[in-house]
Amino acid sequence: MIASRASGKKLHIKTYGCQMNVYDSARMAEVLAPLGYAPSDSAEDADMVILNTCHIREKAAEKVYSELGRLKRWHGAKPASGERRILAVAGCVAQAEGAEILARAPYVDIVLGPQTYHRLPEMVAKATRQAGGVLDTDFPVEPKFDYLPTVSTAPGVGAFLSVQEGCDKFCTFCVVPYTRGAEYSRPAAAILAEARRLNELGAREITLLGQNVNAYRGVAPDGGAWGLGELIRAVAALPGLARIRYTTSHPCDVDDDLIAAHRDVPMLMPFLHLPVQSGSDRVLEAMNRRHTSHDYRRTVERLRAARPDLALSSDFIVGFPGESEADFAATLALVREIGFAQAFSFKYSPRPGTPAAAMPRQVPDAVKAERLAELQALLREQQRDFNAACIGRELPVLFERQGRHDGQLVGRSPYLQAVHAEAPAAAIGTVAKVRLTALGANSIAGEVVA
Ligand code: SAH
Ligand code: SF4
Ligand code: F3S
Repeated sequence: MIASRASGKKLHIKTYGCQMNVYDSARMAEVLAPLGYAPSDSAEDADMVILNTCHIREKAAEKVYSELGRLKRWHGAKPASGERRILAVAGCVAQAEGAEILARAPYVDIVLGPQTYHRLPEMVAKATRQAGGVLDTDFPVEPKFDYLPTVSTAPGVGAFLSVQEGCDKFCTFCVVPYTRGAEYSRPAAAILAEARRLNELGAREITLLGQNVNAYRGVAPDGGAWGLGELIRAVAALPGLARIRYTTSHPCDVDDDLIAAHRDVPMLMPFLHLPVQSGSDRVLEAMNRRHTSHDYRRTVERLRAARPDLALSSDFIVGFPGESEADFAATLALVREIGFAQAFSFKYSPRPGTPAAAMPRQVPDAVKAERLAELQALLREQQRDFNAACIGRELPVLFERQGRHDGQLVGRSPYLQAVHAEAPAAAIGTVAKVRLTALGANSIAGEVVA
């Protein structure tokens, strides 16, 4: 922790959306620490609140405005220090709707996009001097990563590490290429230094993050270029770490070397989130996904050949414009064929400025709801079956924290299942062999195998 240099002010960050926002929130807290802000769990007694927002679906974006409504009174009231409170909106809604935020909630002090949070200290200084909101939604030429302080927050047993940001794919439904900008990969040396640092701070598992993480193409330590497979091998060679994961991947960017890494690197967990969105080639084409359902099947086949115990997770969108009953049936067929251990599924949500929002034959909400319910029932069943098949097996569990009961710890299996078992607190941060014994509502019970 960086010591607070000023008068113990409190900062509350509320994080929405994906893991990259979780990573960004931790970095924003570190950028503000030298100004005297210490993290706080509650907004009520905070001197500054940052909403780190998500624009991916309409519901996610609307949440921000209702939260801003709730914070209006908080913002107007003076805290114990007598100083003005600061309200900031960061993340993807800020990037996409900066001016609209200031129009709908004029009491907001700072609106900043995901690429400018290294400039937060200047913005705070400006906001305390001037009336009216400070807006910074540039895509600066200098990558923010070059200007962020060394990671100093203890991440816990599992840590996120952003290695790549932005997206050049332009799926027709998606806002990410607009909110996060063009693809950028951090140099491998900076990533390796950060991984070492996270390990020193207590992390045993690192999840490499990117909006399109397997499009990673970064400068290698020797000046050449590395893809994600090479980066994974280098992270695996660092001392002290037990596990590596990466997310989120695009099916088109699963290359031979990444598949080989799944075969060769035991620390790379056999669980992969590989969004497919739809099982219909017509819909995939209209989505501009750049792959067919056959390509996806083939990629999964090759991954499973390299790592037979690999389990899969995915994202699905139902009710994309023009999606017919036959298209939807193709999605169900793909799900049945592949078999997913876990998945996320959503109703298509038209996003302003994206090509799909202007497409004809938008699907009525009632149809979307029906399809979503049917798909989710199937995915739930597959998840239950997958978990049930793990009962009786011995799996390595990385213990992360105390459980609800005395003497109980909670950890993760290779498949990200939450597992609780009796174990001493000293086992936090270690991997133990655990026999899984019973399925619970949100976690699986197990016994440490001596
Ligand atoms: N980079 C990741 C996706 C990030 S967004 C990838 O390429 O898969 C996470 C998920 O949100 C997407 O996979 C998609 O399923 C969903 N999503 C994105 N835009 C959406 C929209 N307009 N409506 C509904 N779901 C959407
Ligand atoms: Fe969005 Fe597609 Fe890029 Fe994923 S690959 S972030 S879904 S545009
Ligand atoms: Fe949401 Fe932005 Fe992540 S739109 S999903 S917070 S990249």
